[in-house]
Amino acid sequence: MGRFLHLGDLLLTRYLRRYHRSQMRLRSGFGMHPSPAPARRYLLYIHVPFCESLCPFCTFHRRSLERQLAQRYFKALKRELQYYRDAGFDFAEVYVGGGTPTVLPDELGVTLDLVRHWFRISRLSVETNPNHLCPPTLEVLKQAGVNRLSVGVQSLDDRLLDEMERLRAYGSSASILERVESALGRFDTFNVDMIFNFPHQTMRSLRHDLRTLKDLAVDQISYYPIMPATGAGAPISSRMGRVEFNRERAMYHTVMDALMPDYQPRSAWCFSRQIAPIDEYIVDHDEYLGIGSGSFSYLNGVMFANTFSMERYLELTARSQPAVSAYRALSLREQIRYDFLMRLFGLHMDKTFMSDKYGPNYRRALSTGLLLFKLLGALVETDQEYRVTPEGRYYWVLMMREFFMGVNRLRDQMRTQIPGR
Ligand SMILES: C[S@@+](CC[C@H](N)C(=O)[O-])C[C@H]1O[C@@H](n2cnc3c(N)ncnc32)[C@H](O)[C@@H]1O
Ligand code: SF4
Repeated sequence: MGRFLHLGDLLLTRYLRRYHRSQMRLRSGFGMHPSPAPARRYLLYIHVPFCESLCPFCTFHRRSLERQLAQRYFKALKRELQYYRDAGFDFAEVYVGGGTPTVLPDELGVTLDLVRHWFRISRLSVETNPNHLCPPTLEVLKQAGVNRLSVGVQSLDDRLLDEMERLRAYGSSASILERVESALGRFDTFNVDMIFNFPHQTMRSLRHDLRTLKDLAVDQISYYPIMPATGAGAPISSRMGRVEFNRERAMYHTVMDALMPDYQPRSAWCFSRQIAPIDEYIVDHDEYLGIGSGSFSYLNGVMFANTFSMERYLELTARSQPAVSAYRALSLREQIRYDFLMRLFGLHMDKTFMSDKYGPNYRRALSTGLLLFKLLGALVETDQEYRVTPEGRYYWVLMMREFFMGVNRLRDQMRTQIPGR
């Protein structure tokens, strides 16, 4: 049975890799910009690409912190926000991701104050690193109205933290735990980002981390599978080694078995002790606007990417011009498939949501997928919705891993715009 499942996972991985390789390409599009639908309130994603130390496994758009440049960047963010406010956008929620948004906490605080002054924001989520869980920064975040704070821990194994070059930069397991404890209870949701399937991570080390986090009773744990920058088996660094996907299913089940029933899945890889306000913003929001260099937006079936070049970003925003530099209009079938993936990554797909958005024929675009996953026992159908079964959750881990690895390739494509690379 195990061998059969593994073969199925392998075939699905191959199919998806080919699919995303052919689909995920952007066209050059300087001067393009997203427009709002009337009376719609969106999620605003703000990207802050600076980090104090760059982790070798990380595939996000990030660069080493230069304080003066970061100060100019926060000014540019405000100008870009003003551009979209003048264009008629309204926002109900904000997600600040990175990079490390808290590298200049006061600048972040001022930016969030402005966002809250201009828009009626009900939920505000910020990402950070363990070394920033200190009283002054926590106070700035609290004053700025942050409801959900998410800290990147990755692992509580000092050997692995050392390999991923985080031990010196972001602290040892003991200091991380101390800092996490000091921040618990200060926000509606305190999330910890963890990763499983690092090449040198053992089951024992994974189980130890899971026990420790459960004992701490953090509100929410996001356990990502490692998603390397290039194809299967590529080394993430000479010290970290090669990623093998054949352990991923067993490791995911170890995570699920350890966390449940105290934690309930809110998405295939996010587990919460309570009904948390924000998980992955792409699950709770089918459309969003991204600002900042290297951010993506998805609106009305079109994917937009802001320039990855810092110089170009500062130039464009200084002239009050949109910072979009590439885009892709998805076909109707692709849009339906995108929603199928995202909704079911959130473990439910509401039939009314889909038919209101696409008409009753949306099922035709999904017929093979719906049939296949039902036959595999991964999906059940009720009058109102499709729901992922506990046995089916791993398929959405695998599919999202391939989707994000496709996004990593898009980022590579976008990085070619950075001068002098
Ligand atoms: C992009 S970081 C930004 C926040 C902060 N700088 C940090 O390190 O947590 C957010 C999270 O993405 C996850 N992440 C980054 N690169 C990843 C990869 N290649 N595979 C899986 N997860 C990854 C990590 O768990 C990280 O905590
Ligand atoms: S994981 Fe976080 S700290 Fe490390 S490089 Fe990526 S964004 Fe920066």
